Amino acid sequence: MKAIEIRNKYLNFFKNHGHSIIPSAPLIPENDPSVLFTTAGMQPLVPYLLGEPHPEGKRLTDYQKCVRTNDIDEVGDNRHLTYFEMLGNWSLGDYFKEESIKMSFEFLTKELGIPVEKLSVTVFEGDKDCPRDEVAAKCWKDVGILDGHIYYYGKDDNWWIAGEIGPCGPDTEMFYDTGKPACSPNCQPSCGCGKYVEIWNNVFMEYYKDEKGYTKLKQQNVDTGLGLERMTMLLQGKETPFDTEIFKPVMDKLLELQKADSVESRRIIAEHLRSSMMIISDGGRPSNLDRGYVLRRLIRRMIRHMNKLQIDLEKITELIDLNVDTLKELYPDLEKNRELIKAVIVEEKNKFVKTLDKGEREFNKEIEKIKAQGKTEITGEIVFRLYDTYGFPPEVTKDLAIENKMTISMNEFNELFKAHQEKSRAGANQKFKGGLASTGEMETKYHTATHLLNAALKQVLGPHVHQRGSNITEERMRFDFSHDSKMTEEEKKQTEDLVNKWISDAIPVEKLEMKKEEAIAMKAEAMFIEKYGDIVTVYKIGDISLELCGGPHVSNTSELGHFKIKKEESSSSGVRRIKAILE
Ligand code: SER
Repeated sequence: MKAIEIRNKYLNFFKNHGHSIIPSAPLIPENDPSVLFTTAGMQPLVPYLLGEPHPEGKRLTDYQKCVRTNDIDEVGDNRHLTYFEMLGNWSLGDYFKEESIKMSFEFLTKELGIPVEKLSVTVFEGDKDCPRDEVAAKCWKDVGILDGHIYYYGKDDNWWIAGEIGPCGPDTEMFYDTGKPACSPNCQPSCGCGKYVEIWNNVFMEYYKDEKGYTKLKQQNVDTGLGLERMTMLLQGKETPFDTEIFKPVMDKLLELQKADSVESRRIIAEHLRSSMMIISDGGRPSNLDRGYVLRRLIRRMIRHMNKLQIDLEKITELIDLNVDTLKELYPDLEKNRELIKAVIVEEKNKFVKTLDKGEREFNKEIEKIKAQGKTEITGEIVFRLYDTYGFPPEVTKDLAIENKMTISMNEFNELFKAHQEKSRAGANQKFKGGLASTGEMETKYHTATHLLNAALKQVLGPHVHQRGSNITEERMRFDFSHDSKMTEEEKKQTEDLVNKWISDAIPVEKLEMKKEEAIAMKAEAMFIEKYGDIVTVYKIGDISLELCGGPHVSNTSELGHFKIKKEESSSSGVRRIKAILE
């Protein structure tokens, strides 16, 4: 069965069981700067798991594009992926354990045709926070899971939460027996030897965890996730996802192009190529911070491994074309963004080639110095300087260190890198706050105008627009926002007109205080939500705008006067800047 068939079967099955099919959210979370990428199907659904009604009802299903980057260094082995697709179904306070387990069992055994003896399941063994899940265990027994195929584990294995705080609960996981020999007489799903592969996770989300501990949510939810690549691999009897139709064409092409051999390198190239293409297609661009840096690392690591296999780097566009053709049935957006993806990756490749040449020269100078001192260690400080001044990737420094038989302190580098990131983030935050701190009459007006401009841009250009920065003086406002292309005269005019209309509509500006979670659930705009405390101030301008903000603001939009855009220009890659005045 091909991946697309598995996906379609899944969505149809749950549709037939009363679920609405909802679209995959973008990989780059909307309104949530606190996480880099969407990492699970539940992530865009948090407000609804917390109790906000979902417009599509209480039963939902989707396929969700996900990127998880904590395992980036593991890619190249036979299973790790940075991008994957998660099939999911949700009950938002509707069905619970029994129906969820029944549906999962039916889907696995009837729709996918997996023999029951190949299935094992795990349930939560219980602790002080939550009782042993005898209900789930009984449901599994009742549907037909074989004796001896139900295991009880603790929080490490059978409890699910995204990060440290949020909705969570005990889960039940389904495992597929690959038929490989047991690693020991005690071989079981949790041992990780590869005989059992986890295929589906149903989380019974009825708790909320914060710093103080666990409380019960308003409703009992179910959140499930099934990894498409893994299921495809297992049903096709393949050893790795790279042997399925998702990766095979690119893997074969790499084999044909390579002049040196390494299956790990081929996997890294194929995997990172797909990930980068998906991220770019959803609006990501390479940079030196956060998301942009992840994308940069993926592309650069791919290029390094192309070098390692001695593949002509010009072949990258051929590989992209091939991958668009391979994946466009699963992700039609790739076809739409084919040229854009090529342009972004080629530009990054060109930058990287230059960086590599220059960085390697600097690295060699450092090595000479270290040797002259009779030392053998490359300090984290040197790794950081090469990175910070020349953009030389730490991973490459590490490779070169090994080649030169030197030791290298990556921990020290990581500390320095973290400190650097925090400093830049705080800096950006400061700029943002800097505007807000001043309280003159004009500045106050500009603050409110900023919110109106943000809302107007979203209406004129699309919901992808988010604030990336702002700076206000008595004379003018500057507003940076995510958008790819130059605004047309028409778009500028529409934006101005809209802001001026709202000004003449004389809309009251209300100041509200609420819990951070509530603000997130109401989809309030926020640039640095992680920087705010538990209780946040939100400014509401009619139905037009809802933004986390410290203020101050005018009390009615009619106070602003006439809004005029003076300039629209590029600020950085994927970010535009507007300078505007109130007259
Ligand atoms: N949220 C759970 C997971 O990511 C189930 O979807 O595994």
